[in-house]
Amino acid sequence: MQNNRLIITLFGASGDLAQRKLYPALYQLYRKKIISNHFAVIGTARREWTNDHYRQIVIANIINHCKDKKEAMMFASHFYYQPHDVHDTDQYKNLQQLAEQLDQTYQTEGNRIFYISLSPQLFPIITKHLKTQGLITNTGYNRLIIEKPFGYSEESADLLQKQLEESFEENQIYRIDHYLGKSLVNQILPIRFNNHIMKSIWTGETIDHIQITLNESIGVEDRGSYYETSGVSRDMIQNHALQLLALVTMLEPTAFNASEIRDEKIKILKNLTLFDGWDQAELNIVRGQYGPSLDGQHPGYREEKNINEQSLVETFIALKLKIDYGGWQHTPIYIRSGKHMSTKQTDIKIVFKQIKKDIPANYLQFELAPNPGIRLYLSQSDSTHQEEIMPLNLFYTVPPEICSELPKDYEKLILDCIEGNLNNFTHYLEAKYAWRLIDRIQHYWAQEDTVCFPNYPAQSDGPKAGQEIILRDQKNWINK
Ligand code: BG6
Repeated sequence: MQNNRLIITLFGASGDLAQRKLYPALYQLYRKKIISNHFAVIGTARREWTNDHYRQIVIANIINHCKDKKEAMMFASHFYYQPHDVHDTDQYKNLQQLAEQLDQTYQTEGNRIFYISLSPQLFPIITKHLKTQGLITNTGYNRLIIEKPFGYSEESADLLQKQLEESFEENQIYRIDHYLGKSLVNQILPIRFNNHIMKSIWTGETIDHIQITLNESIGVEDRGSYYETSGVSRDMIQNHALQLLALVTMLEPTAFNASEIRDEKIKILKNLTLFDGWDQAELNIVRGQYGPSLDGQHPGYREEKNINEQSLVETFIALKLKIDYGGWQHTPIYIRSGKHMSTKQTDIKIVFKQIKKDIPANYLQFELAPNPGIRLYLSQSDSTHQEEIMPLNLFYTVPPEICSELPKDYEKLILDCIEGNLNNFTHYLEAKYAWRLIDRIQHYWAQEDTVCFPNYPAQSDGPKAGQEIILRDQKNWINK
């Protein structure tokens, strides 16, 4: 069986994600000949589009990436549109017939990827129909890709999993966290475990603390309704931040396959807690919400579209965590993430213990944005005045020509799914334990008497308490 012979059925074909990310990603795979003649995409949504109209949409979304209009048209000819109401059982028959027909045309050997890019409430409705209406084939592979969020809490994630498992086994479910498709994120494990230097110093004994920053300069934009149900804790921490945390702290797996890697990550997430325990939550959890920017150019969160005027949803969070496992019990992990911060900064810093009090701590930085690169900050002596300590900064910045050819997150993740590689997709138990932490935080917030929001202006460095969470330990957020 060849993996790259396949039919992708896409639920949510008219949506923003499909247009901005998925069509360009599939086009890159086509351009690189990873998928070529033997694939078809069935796009579904409620609108009454024709195949022609759909193909025009696909072309419009890839045209900037391609040199040759003819190639774009060839690519788009693999796309078929089927209007579809996911609640209507009868309509699944149309999808099944179309898929069988395209199986013949493109000789796709019954291989299927079902990609659901719709609201999570619809996941179980669709997967149930895929099974009962016979869209899951017996001849090829059947894989399900779903977007976040996987549930809303531990309980809802458990329920969702139970529902999905009625149609798909765990190893057929590809839960997307687009951070796991970022090429620098994919370098974390090789750098940690393939280099003796890194491997030997990467322990709770030598690492003083870890900083993870996921700051964005944009606000909630037009996603107000979604954000009101999520806040930054569910939008960025439960998935992206905790995934990064798991990658930098997991113990070495016995083999580098999905099952072993994910097992190690699960152990980390299961043992994640607040640094000083939950009775010290006040010191270790900070939340914030942005108000109008000081220059009056940006509205506050409560003034944005589709936001409750008295919303208590958090747009900023800072946490001090620890892991009761793997030798990390005494290593604080500081995480912060906010919308409408002064700059976009997405990075991880592994800060090593100081050799001497007056020599600055060394640290290793994985910068995902804005300037992707890996940087090691060491200390040296000034060559003339030996007693003076100078910084020695070793930078690896991804060269622009490589950067442009590296697969973008969605391209990488779709390719992994085609190849049946689950390494970069979260296991259900990872999602479950990450929710457990978020649930505890939400529970703590629900009991707080007063919340003074907004508590930071848009385009700033967040609430003061977000600084204090680390200053209190005589450390600083490193903003480089
Ligand atoms: C998404 C969140 O998962 O990640 C968004 O829903 C956020 O709110 C985005 O803006 C950030 O992704 P990146 O890749 O730009 O850091």
